[in-house]
Amino acid sequence: MTTLLQSCTSFNAAPVGNASFDVTTVTELSKDGGVTEKTFPGQFDSVPLIIIRESETKYLAFCTVCTHYGKKVSAPANSTSDIICNAHNGHFSPKDGHVISGPPKSGLTRYNCSFNTETNILTITG
Ligand code: FES
Repeated sequence: MTTLLQSCTSFNAAPVGNASFDVTTVTELSKDGGVTEKTFPGQFDSVPLIIIRESETKYLAFCTVCTHYGKKVSAPANSTSDIICNAHNGHFSPKDGHVISGPPKSGLTRYNCSFNTETNILTITG
């Protein structure tokens, strides 16, 4: 029962948090189009986030909890590939998280990203 309640909570209300890190410490984010999946213990309910580098100063961050039945979505291979939930073949846009196809009725939660060009620190909040 506890697992069921946690499952319901996870897709009815996206986890919130606040996390910062130096993007130069993540190899996948060293070039435009790079994608990584990162967990921030104690933040966002410790749910991994998908982080995409669109350009040198613009990043996107999405919750990996599918809005259909709360299964985990997979990070795309690059910034132009769909974010996919293999549970029921839900596809989401890597640009803004909207539903492209499949059973989900709403898009992935997108978090605010703020990038400091002097320190290379990306701050994700939501
Ligand atoms: S749980 Fe993701 S498509 Fe159903």
